[in-house]
Amino acid sequence: MDKSKLPKTVTVVDHPLILHKLTLMRDKHTPSAVFRQLLREISLLLAYEVARDLPITNQTIETPLAEMEAPILKGKKLVIVSILRAGNGLLEGMLDLMPSARVGHIGIYRNPVTLEPVEYYMKVPEDIAERRVIVVDPMLATGNSVSAAISRLKQKGAKDIKLVCLLSAPEGIAHVAQDHPDVHVFTAAVDSHLNSHGYIVPGLGDAGDRMFGTK
Ligand code: URA
Repeated sequence: MDKSKLPKTVTVVDHPLILHKLTLMRDKHTPSAVFRQLLREISLLLAYEVARDLPITNQTIETPLAEMEAPILKGKKLVIVSILRAGNGLLEGMLDLMPSARVGHIGIYRNPVTLEPVEYYMKVPEDIAERRVIVVDPMLATGNSVSAAISRLKQKGAKDIKLVCLLSAPEGIAHVAQDHPDVHVFTAAVDSHLNSHGYIVPGLGDAGDRMFGTK
């Protein structure tokens, strides 16, 4: 995928460590336990990138040698919103790096025939309007579910939203850019296309099934 053709709101985090781990995840012979561990490791690296513009301030501290003005996070409130169920695979690594973040969940699935999103659960912090919202979902395929989830978060007051995906299809990227041009997308890779069942090709299969060993 030619990165220069992507919307300006998309960052492809194609670090060599991520690319290597993603290749291991794509391999259909990789067992669930290894798949989950790799996803956790990649989510740490994606968290590093999505947190790059968090505001910092200075605090006076004393090192063993001298007093200094040292940078610390300004205390921007965060919430990580996991789109169930596969989003939970990215959540753990994000929390490793941002342990004070609140966590929200949105249960949404694709109708297998229409590929339209169906919401069955939603719980997010009441003060979501004051928080930076990081939505996590490993697979940005049609973009239907993610776009619907972001719309629901905006209805709840969310204003500052970023989306973190492992793998994306050009169709999903275009969909989110069209519906939510204010939302920056961080993804490890953009694949070729979607198949007729809405799966990313070459992709890695069903992320939830690969994580949990279901079929
Ligand atoms: N969801 C998945 O888990 N995999 C895909 O390829 C598309 C959507």
